[in-house]
Amino acid sequence: MKPDWEGLRQAALEVSRQAYVPYSHYPVGAAGLADDGRVVVGCNVENAGYGVALCAECGMVSQLVATGGGRLLAVVCVNALGEPILPCGRCRQLLWEHGGERLHVQTPGGPLGMTDLLPLAFGPDDITHVTGG
Ligand code: THU
Repeated sequence: MKPDWEGLRQAALEVSRQAYVPYSHYPVGAAGLADDGRVVVGCNVENAGYGVALCAECGMVSQLVATGGGRLLAVVCVNALGEPILPCGRCRQLLWEHGGERLHVQTPGGPLGMTDLLPLAFGPDDITHVTGG
């Protein structure tokens, strides 16, 4: 399935307008294409306990799982200007779990694969290798 990168960017910008960002004043929107064609979105939700803020990617992954799961193929995260931004380190780990090496993420220089964004990632295979499943 070929991603509509511009459509994803627009969906991310639209949901970024719902962000709850009274502390950073830095709205983020994330939009992802799932392998069944569904588009899932999320925005950042901050908290007075600054460290427990939820990134936009967390909301997007939550919607992915809550609406039936599947694998992410393409993700775009944007700032308030609609410019692609790179997921933070923690969110790269979330994306690895739900997309793995097939997933590509938009960057200012074009789409990049997860193996470049999170090289030598720890993931589900490391667990099943030991537990057997
Ligand atoms: N933020 C995200 O939502 N995703 C990222 O990948 C980077 C950072 C949010 C967290 C916080 O609400 C604000 O951007 C400033 O760091």
